Amino acid sequence: MIPAAAAAGARSIAAHAVARVLGEGVTLDSALQDALAGAPGALVPPVRSLGYGAVRGYFRHEAILGMLLSQPVRSLDRLVRAILSVALFELEDARTPAYAVVDAAVKTAKATDAARASGLINAVLRRYLRERAGIDAGIERNPATRHGAPAWLAERLRADWPVRWTQLLAAGDAQAPMWLRLARHTTMEEYLATLGAAGIGARAEPRVPGALVLDVPCDVQELPGFAQGLVSVQDLGAQCVAFPLDLGAGLRVLDACAAPGGKTALMAEREAHLARLVAIDISPARLARVHENLQRGNLHAELIAGDAADPGAWWDGEPFDRILLDAPCSALGVIRRHPDIRLRKSPADIDRMPPIQARLLAAAWRMLAPGGRLVYATCTLTRSENRDLVAAFATATPDAVICGTDSWDGWPGFGEDDGLGRQILPGEAAADGFYYAALNKR
Ligand SMILES: C[S@@+](CC[C@H](N)C(=O)[O-])C[C@H]1O[C@@H](n2cnc3c(N)ncnc32)[C@H](O)[C@@H]1O
Repeated sequence: MIPAAAAAGARSIAAHAVARVLGEGVTLDSALQDALAGAPGALVPPVRSLGYGAVRGYFRHEAILGMLLSQPVRSLDRLVRAILSVALFELEDARTPAYAVVDAAVKTAKATDAARASGLINAVLRRYLRERAGIDAGIERNPATRHGAPAWLAERLRADWPVRWTQLLAAGDAQAPMWLRLARHTTMEEYLATLGAAGIGARAEPRVPGALVLDVPCDVQELPGFAQGLVSVQDLGAQCVAFPLDLGAGLRVLDACAAPGGKTALMAEREAHLARLVAIDISPARLARVHENLQRGNLHAELIAGDAADPGAWWDGEPFDRILLDAPCSALGVIRRHPDIRLRKSPADIDRMPPIQARLLAAAWRMLAPGGRLVYATCTLTRSENRDLVAAFATATPDAVICGTDSWDGWPGFGEDDGLGRQILPGEAAADGFYYAALNKR
């Protein structure tokens, strides 16, 4: 339970951050970071917990409110919706007595711009407590509301994954574990022992060399050796990129959408004798993160701020033997990590992605040397951004040969083989959802 004094301020800060996600489309992480600027450190954990809880459950809360209100939920002020969502999360969480949650929500409203709605907030939450059993039963019956997903997302997932869609919704509703990638210059046994000595429980994933998961997520600064690059935070699904890439000494490698550089660093760590490692990203601000990540691990790559779809503007003409295209995507495979994706994305946003991905793929292909390999990757689950996109490209590209997933050296067996690539589903092996396909150039 959050200490009472901290909780009072935390509710208001969290609600304001959630209101910004609702209204401005900013990410939850950046809204929380802004909201917490200058706040005492003790407030950080409760604000994050309340903010994430409210956003993770937002569409469930919206459905609950829809049963309680006579007006459409969307007609409520955003801050009022956010205060209600924080309170409904606290009621679900059940660590604070229900009467105290209602009382606190009313007080939060009174102390903010939502003061005029304090009566409504009080009435709605009290009615929910009275009618909760029946309302919750209705919420449970619908997989979308049960797992806090918007209806359109549930429909999209059902269309692409008619058997697995409810499992995928549930995976998006779960809390993500914290995976680490161990740098080469220490052994797993040593690092697990170091973590144990620091009181941090963890286990290795033996099928993916260097991967370990913490029993309980923690601040990176608490990780022994983090500042020295001994470990990096990287999901297990992302670490699987090493298998289809098949790196080797002397290869020229392009990371075509590199920021924040998790996979660039992995490549530099895994193969210290590459002839070249070029990392490009369209966002100079995000490219700075690649620089930081490489520097922390004492790793090197040539960094370029540019458009990977327009190589004429930056490419020196020397072809690459390996290209990783970790394309911008709808990110439906990482919803458990970024639950605000469900609030910030629309079906139109998803439909905008395949033409962008196809343009990037065609441009990357032009930079690939004959005999080279391109790995197409996304952290999403839609067929249109994964299998269908790769199929259309392979069909239209005479010198492209699908490199069957059976031939990926060391692949740990995760994911569904769709005949072209592999789809890791979120939650499988405790990983995020990822898609990989590899194409060889004749
Ligand atoms: C999925 S993220 C890459 C994650 C990264 N590979 C990693 O493992 O840390 C996609 C990246 O593509 C970048 N991007 C989007 N469009 C691009 C373009 N036309 N050219 C280069 N980079 C682009 C985005 O800025 C974003 O950083």
